[in-house]
Amino acid sequence: MRSLIDIVDFTVEELDELLHTACDISENPEKYADCCKGKKLATLFFEPSTRTRLSFEAAMLELGGNVIGFSEASSSSAAKGESIADTAKMISCYADIMAMRHPKEGAPYVAAKSASIPVINAGDGGHCHPTQTLADLLTIYRELGRLDHLTVGCCGDLKYGRTVHSLISAMSRYPNVKVVLIAPEELRLPKYVKYEVLEKNGMDYVETTSLEEAIPQLDVLYMTRIQRERFDSFDEYERLKDSYVLTPEKMALGKPEMRVLHPLPRVNEISVKVDDDPRAAYFRQALNGKYMRMALILKLLKEAKEGRQMESLGEVLTNVLHCDNPRCITSTEQELDHIFKCVDSSRGIHRCIYCESKKVQQA
Ligand code: CP
Repeated sequence: MRSLIDIVDFTVEELDELLHTACDISENPEKYADCCKGKKLATLFFEPSTRTRLSFEAAMLELGGNVIGFSEASSSSAAKGESIADTAKMISCYADIMAMRHPKEGAPYVAAKSASIPVINAGDGGHCHPTQTLADLLTIYRELGRLDHLTVGCCGDLKYGRTVHSLISAMSRYPNVKVVLIAPEELRLPKYVKYEVLEKNGMDYVETTSLEEAIPQLDVLYMTRIQRERFDSFDEYERLKDSYVLTPEKMALGKPEMRVLHPLPRVNEISVKVDDDPRAAYFRQALNGKYMRMALILKLLKEAKEGRQMESLGEVLTNVLHCDNPRCITSTEQELDHIFKCVDSSRGIHRCIYCESKKVQQA
């Protein structure tokens, strides 16, 4: 079935269609109140969540459907060692669509390959968070009236912050978007996003460690939390956790029309004193997430009814290269083939289809 694993699974036209449906839902909720009558959404959350899980559940309920699921791995049979592939087959017997969050990169893709219902990636490790990006796009569109001709500053943990990876992938497809990457040296954007998204798409970008210097040029400031749960060293987290704190004094350096987004939860990277600034859009962003998830559920269920399938991967290498990323689902899932796709044939560069780790195949 067609699923949403990575934001680039959808064309720009499809993103536009989702934006328009979400706006219509927010203005005319009664039109959609029975659209999913008799349908069930399963929420499979192997990691903590407030917004994503509850907005998915609210979305399905507001579409007239029902919800089943679990909110932690320990209350599912994953605790007994059940694989992702088997879990996805089981859920396909009980629900019409599923949303999965998992700490391992690529887990929702493994689920999508086994399931006979659409799978939505609700966040996989430090990799992607495409439905957060849907919320981000709707927020930028509603707040600023466009998704092009923007300077977007991404600030904080750009290494592990999966929301930033998905947002940059999405924004790379709109004209004249410049990205300002604001991060400590240790938490810079991964090279695969920099080279294969920013540079491949000819996107204008700069890297800096200074939030104060970057703010005056920004249309959107996308703040992120330092992702404590992804650090191998607690001391390293402690050293970096207060790298950036947005305060009213720093907001004063920004344009009057700048908007501040944050996927939330925040820890201390945005002072609560900023919340009353009309440019602080992060709580409106969370509400937009519900409308976009409603639009997404409608789209994927419609396509499932029509029998639309996932795009084929094309030519791949199976069990020729080995993924060494300990955060990849290949490190834990039973008997999972290691599959790589060539991204640069002249240099023999391949990417793991689950976590996008790079491997070079010697000629
Ligand atoms: N933005 C986001 O993913 O929030 P939760 O972790 O609360 O779902």
